Amino acid sequence: MAWNVSGLMRMGRFLLLVIFFLPCEVTSSVLTVNNRTENYILDTGLGSQESLECAVQNHTREEELLWYREEGTVDLKSGNKLNSSSVCVSSISENDNGVTFTCKLQRDQSVSVSVVLNVIFPPILSGDDFQTVEEGRDVKLVCSVKSNPPAQMMWYKNSNFLNLEKNYQVLQTSESLQLSITKVEKSDNGTYSCVANSSLQTETKDFHLIVKDRTVTMPIEPIIAACAVVFLTLCFGLIARRKRIMKLCIKDEDPQRDTAL
Ligand SMILES: *[C@@H]1O[C@H](CO)[C@@H](O)[C@H](O)[C@H]1NC(C)=O
Ligand SMILES: *[C@@H]1O[C@H](CO)[C@@H](O)[C@H](O)[C@H]1NC(C)=O
Ligand SMILES: *[C@@H]1O[C@H](CO)[C@@H](O)[C@H](O)[C@H]1NC(C)=O
Ligand SMILES: *[C@@H]1O[C@H](CO)[C@@H](O)[C@H](O)[C@H]1NC(C)=O
Ligand SMILES: *[C@@H]1O[C@H](CO)[C@@H](O)[C@H](O)[C@H]1NC(C)=O
Repeated sequence: MAWNVSGLMRMGRFLLLVIFFLPCEVTSSVLTVNNRTENYILDTGLGSQESLECAVQNHTREEELLWYREEGTVDLKSGNKLNSSSVCVSSISENDNGVTFTCKLQRDQSVSVSVVLNVIFPPILSGDDFQTVEEGRDVKLVCSVKSNPPAQMMWYKNSNFLNLEKNYQVLQTSESLQLSITKVEKSDNGTYSCVANSSLQTETKDFHLIVKDRTVTMPIEPIIAACAVVFLTLCFGLIARRKRIMKLCIKDEDPQRDTAL
């Protein structure tokens, strides 16, 4: 039985070798997307529509084509697969920026042409419009940005270029511009504008920071402890006094007893 299994395995390996060394069918077929044989970048804009037509050239037989959006296959109608195939990308949004569409030959997927969408759009800013912070606390204003081409970013306060004072710290990433304020003071109250300047457009978003008075918080634990001490003192006091009161009562009763006797 064991011999049989290893025999089968050897046979399997042999078959695999045979398959590997079988002369591959030479694919002379070439793919084109919108008449281009090489991968390329397609510049487009928001709301646009792009049609990508993939066609097989120099084919000796009928070829089936596949389309991929990134790693996922695109569902194609049956009449849109053989020898040529089109996909239409409509209502292009900023989220389509950088997305790759690839056409492949079904029979030999190494034959492919890719198109990367380069969606050009003005800066899009987002974040919390209003933030309330207590005096003395730390706060962070986060201005999220999407822009292609990338925008030059800066903060303004009450329409003046933000003076980077001691308690301000600015951090810029590809996705946001942040302003951290430590130990907020009353004077930090105001409107902070996040400005994104791209070659297409300058966009501004206002962030309102409202600095509240410091609220005096009662330390709860010491209060409980103090209450307990007061309560216990009262209790002991009462017990001690009760003994004295009792004694007084007994003394008071004694003369009556005397008189009664
Ligand atoms: C591809 O080329 C053909 C002929 O040269 C032309 O008719 C067709 O419009 C082109 N297609 C695209 C998408 O450019
Ligand atoms: C098709 O084949 C011919 C001859 O083999 C060649 O000259 C031509 O460049 C090929 N076309 C493409 C698109 O590769
Ligand atoms: C695809 O191309 C092959 C070879 O040129 C041809 O025989 C076949 O009819 C074509 N099929 C379609 C659906 O165009
Ligand atoms: C604090 O800033 C907000 C937002 O800019 C503003 O509406 C408000 O009047 C300011 N309050 C004070 C006391 O300056
Ligand atoms: C935006 O940047 C351009 C140069 O890149 C400059 O000329 C322009 O003044 C800037 N606009 C603002 C509002 O900063």
